[in-house]
Amino acid sequence: MLIDLEGIDGCGKSTQIKLLQKKLEEKGEKTLILKEPTNKPHGQKLWDVLKGKIKATNEEILDFFILDRKQHVKEKIKPALEQGTVVLMDRYYYSSMAYQVAGGLDVDYIRNKHDFAPTPNIVLVFDLPVKTALERVHGHREADEFEKEEHLEKVRAAYLNLNDDPIVKILDATRKPEEIFQDVWMLVSEVIDG
Ligand code: TYD
Repeated sequence: MLIDLEGIDGCGKSTQIKLLQKKLEEKGEKTLILKEPTNKPHGQKLWDVLKGKIKATNEEILDFFILDRKQHVKEKIKPALEQGTVVLMDRYYYSSMAYQVAGGLDVDYIRNKHDFAPTPNIVLVFDLPVKTALERVHGHREADEFEKEEHLEKVRAAYLNLNDDPIVKILDATRKPEEIFQDVWMLVSEVIDG
């Protein structure tokens, strides 16, 4: 089982992923939370790009994410899935299908470049207005290059455009964490119970 949590920066997915892990463990599932970009060399390079230390084109940025993801799939994601672990992704290739689409690339082009990556069973997108998300982010940290409002509006729109994909579930993330989690658990239970 592979579950992907997505949304713009400040959407609350980190809180939801921890709640989900706790609930799954209570149900006796083995779980693993994995985050992209990773802290491996390709991921490190990406952080330099994200922080504006290195300049790169959208195509180059996508390639960095893909190199990082290929290693992640091979070394962590696939082995965990093979052991029957429920893998909880804090961002996966659906982030590329939102952020790099916002950067100007085509969504199907990006999806097709991910034939090496196992398809998630479900993708939960935590949706909220960009202003609300930015207020949350500024409350506890500085905004980085990727957290500019205009860009995030495009990212949000790209996430909402994924609505046609049957595995994508869009959730209203303006609510209280416990309320959001009720929806998360309902959707995940449906997938688990088949
Ligand atoms: P994020 O998980 O938001 O980092 P933080 O720990 O700072 O909350 O991810 C960092 C940034 O990387 C975020 O702005 C989204 C971006 N990103 C992409 O543009 N494409 C991708 O494929 C991924 C995984 C992340």
